[in-house]
Amino acid sequence: MESAAITEDDVWNYRVWSDLHSESGEKIFHSRYFEEARTQRHHKRTTVAAHTMGVAATSLKLYYLCRALHINVNKEDLIRASLCHDLGIVGRDRKFSDNIECCHQHPVDSVAAAKEIFPDLDERTEDAIRHHMWPCTLVPPHHIEGVIVTIADKYCAMAEGIAGNNHCPGHRFLQYS
Ligand SMILES: [Fe+2]
Ligand SMILES: [Fe+2]
Repeated sequence: MESAAITEDDVWNYRVWSDLHSESGEKIFHSRYFEEARTQRHHKRTTVAAHTMGVAATSLKLYYLCRALHINVNKEDLIRASLCHDLGIVGRDRKFSDNIECCHQHPVDSVAAAKEIFPDLDERTEDAIRHHMWPCTLVPPHHIEGVIVTIADKYCAMAEGIAGNNHCPGHRFLQYS
């Protein structure tokens, strides 16, 4: 029997999948936050977990693009920041009174969640998480890792709103996490 040819897309997705399942990724997937993220609705048509995987996968693809262009990006910081950026939105209905409070407070709560998982969280990762809602919040990220997460976040939010859960960028990466 002839086996199906491996496409360039398959290679990309395997590379991203391997990065997501690094030691840091596994710590986040086994956290109490990510467990609840799997069932919490997000952007109307998806879940916090699927959105998170989409943002992380998109961020990693941008990382490889930057690397090809000789732009220095810290991959470990990017993985931690992208996978933690919305952990603070978990439990939004019991935590926040409205969308404005949620918009401003969930990045702060995401930093607290990330520090619970990684007590050694560094400044670049914290900054990327804290400022990912820019320009909805006033202060932009100060490092390239934060710029990448912010762009990936907006792209995924748009894609999920239009295409829904089964076609959102993170869906395929969530299945085996
Ligand atoms: Fe967010
Ligand atoms: Fe997000």
